Amino acid sequence: MDLTAEQRAVLEGAGGPYLATCMRWLVEWGEVMGARRLVHCHNTHVLLPTPNLVARGASPRTLEAFADGLKEACRHPVAEHCLATVHTLFVTLDELDVPENNPDQVRLQREIAEMAVRAGYLTTFTCAPYLVGNVPLMGEICAWTESSAVVYANSILGARTTRHGNESAIAASLLGVVPEFGVLLDENRRGTLRVEVAAELRHPSDWGALGYFTGRLAGLGIPVFENLRRPSQEEAKQLCAALATSGGVTMCHIVGATPEALSLEAAFQGRVPRERVVFTDQALRETYEALRNATGDELDAVILGCPHASLRELAQVARRLEGRRVAPGVRLWINAARATRCAADAMGLTQIIEAAGGRILCDTCPTNMRIPCRRLVSDGFKQAHYARGMTGAEVIVANTEACLRAALAGRWQGDA
Ligand code: F3S
Repeated sequence: MDLTAEQRAVLEGAGGPYLATCMRWLVEWGEVMGARRLVHCHNTHVLLPTPNLVARGASPRTLEAFADGLKEACRHPVAEHCLATVHTLFVTLDELDVPENNPDQVRLQREIAEMAVRAGYLTTFTCAPYLVGNVPLMGEICAWTESSAVVYANSILGARTTRHGNESAIAASLLGVVPEFGVLLDENRRGTLRVEVAAELRHPSDWGALGYFTGRLAGLGIPVFENLRRPSQEEAKQLCAALATSGGVTMCHIVGATPEALSLEAAFQGRVPRERVVFTDQALRETYEALRNATGDELDAVILGCPHASLRELAQVARRLEGRRVAPGVRLWINAARATRCAADAMGLTQIIEAAGGRILCDTCPTNMRIPCRRLVSDGFKQAHYARGMTGAEVIVANTEACLRAALAGRWQGDA
């Protein structure tokens, strides 16, 4: 890879051993991916979580050792002009009666968070940074972790980011550069799969179903959706999350909505394939059914807010719950960024949700924490997919209204 004299000096240790390691991560990754140079990047979304080691049987010492690596990263200031937000944690910094919210882990996570703030990170603790102020412009080069947010940034905002892991996103935050490959380059943003949407999408979760259906077909490719109206923020959030769940999608084009895909020709860069996949009403129904594996109607958890809920979603939930009560023994959790919950507090929404027996869960998500539950209902395809795979819970994925009806009744009531 061609490096500038300044970049080479950092690689050779001019900025100290940690920055040399960061530069080596970026250079080696770039070389494997065929990058020819590093390009400026002033927008990152990083992971700084200590994994659930104690809850899985590891000693607190092992956890401390892992946390030391994150603390080392936070001893170095974020590059000048870089907007660096932080992804979710594996714990919530609030009190929570769940074994995985281990006190040692919470303590370490608080220490890391304080160090991160001093280093210049914005500790948003959310998987949806675009809801809380990190909204890159069209064409802006970013380095984001969180697959759903990566798809959103590329497809809805027209920004450019490959899928990052911990190390590369931290390195990009400190050095202000990323290797140039993949969807950072025009030629790699060309659509690869044509999808005609014939189904009527009435709920945000229906957009999740479309994404889940398409992700399996697209693999690592770039689906192009035609006959699809401009999505709301919540619909786009569901589509992008599900695309990156059943497949390895980094971006999609929604013809007429994705900034660089105002026509089918533009989405395919002039080479429009004749073959297309059609997403029908039947495919919509079957996609919901394919993820459901519940063997009964009783339930103990209803999880909303995957990806993290918007303020509008919190308002809708509060309106639906006002004056009602969630069934005993059911955890109704709505995941949201702390900043979103602050706004909900100010609007009186949190109080309504809590009075009904629900909870707005911040900093994390139940999948990361592996909430113990036997059967859960969720309006997020990503949440249901991972809960089923990682916790062994039985799951039902459904639209938000059906989820709330189930929470109030304490049992699955069927689709709404
Ligand atoms: Fe966010 Fe967890 Fe869903 S990190 S995208 S709420 S699985």
